[in-house]
Amino acid sequence: MKHLLSIEDLSAAQIHHLLELTDHMVEVSSRPIPKVPALRGKNVVSLFFEDSTRTRTSFDTAAKRLSADTMNFAISSSSVNKGESLRDTIETISAMGVDAFVVRHKSSGAPQMVTRWTNASIINAGDGWHQHPTQALLDCFTIRTSLNRRDGFDGLHIAIVGDIKHSRVARSDVQAFAALGARVTLVAPPTLLPPSLDGWPVEVSHDLDALLPHLDVLYLLRVQRERMDDALLPSLDEYSAMYGLTPARAARMAPHALVMHPGPMNRGVEMVADPGELPGSVILNQVTNGVAVRMAVLFWLLGSGADLKSSDLKGDAS
Ligand code: CP
Repeated sequence: MKHLLSIEDLSAAQIHHLLELTDHMVEVSSRPIPKVPALRGKNVVSLFFEDSTRTRTSFDTAAKRLSADTMNFAISSSSVNKGESLRDTIETISAMGVDAFVVRHKSSGAPQMVTRWTNASIINAGDGWHQHPTQALLDCFTIRTSLNRRDGFDGLHIAIVGDIKHSRVARSDVQAFAALGARVTLVAPPTLLPPSLDGWPVEVSHDLDALLPHLDVLYLLRVQRERMDDALLPSLDEYSAMYGLTPARAARMAPHALVMHPGPMNRGVEMVADPGELPGSVILNQVTNGVAVRMAVLFWLLGSGADLKSSDLKGDAS
């Protein structure tokens, strides 16, 4: 693989391979000096045309832990503001010597377009409503470790709740969870579902309360007010009353069940309970695992990740 653009491009075996590689990166991250020379000499450029806290910082940390050089391109102070096109921006930075671009863009398909204008690897860090593949991988890794499911998700029931229509996380997670064998139910008001779910390996429900006691994972999505052109919800209070995770709803979940959220959270909307008070919350584990997963992805694309050598991760990054 040269690029990571979509979960659809990965087989179940490749997802398992990346999760196993992530186990090694977790071990590296637990060392007193969490740094290895695996990507020494490689140059990784973050190109975020949309805001980010988790994805941008975890890719940067991941690249540094592998000893890659990193460049954070600040759109707000770049020549994009003078009208420079995406193509010219990519070709210009590529001319400085780039091994991988990590690209976030508000337009679906932008990372795919970028592959035409550079020889560097492209990693999709979220494009429009389309895909966010490393989020799906870190979510799979979190479920795999939290529920001790190294061999796959057969028999697990995962509900993804909320604004499915506008969510690249939902599209990516559905594909990844289903590829690993989970049963996936989408829970949302009809206005926050895509117009067609043809080909989606999912069931649909509008009744969160009926499902709650039977779930292994409750995956809440952010209500994306910035992507809503129309009034798709009568009010946020009504959304909360039907689909928000309140303490009372959390108390009806199975003791082993996980609560997940990709962040950023709308407290008081989809997350009414205090996540710090929820025994099943693995939301901060998702963030922690994001670094190791992104190390695995960078190593897979730029290093010898398809066939890990014992020397790759030895700790001599001085
Ligand atoms: N989950 C996620 O993509 O978060 P950021 O927008 O903060 O990167």
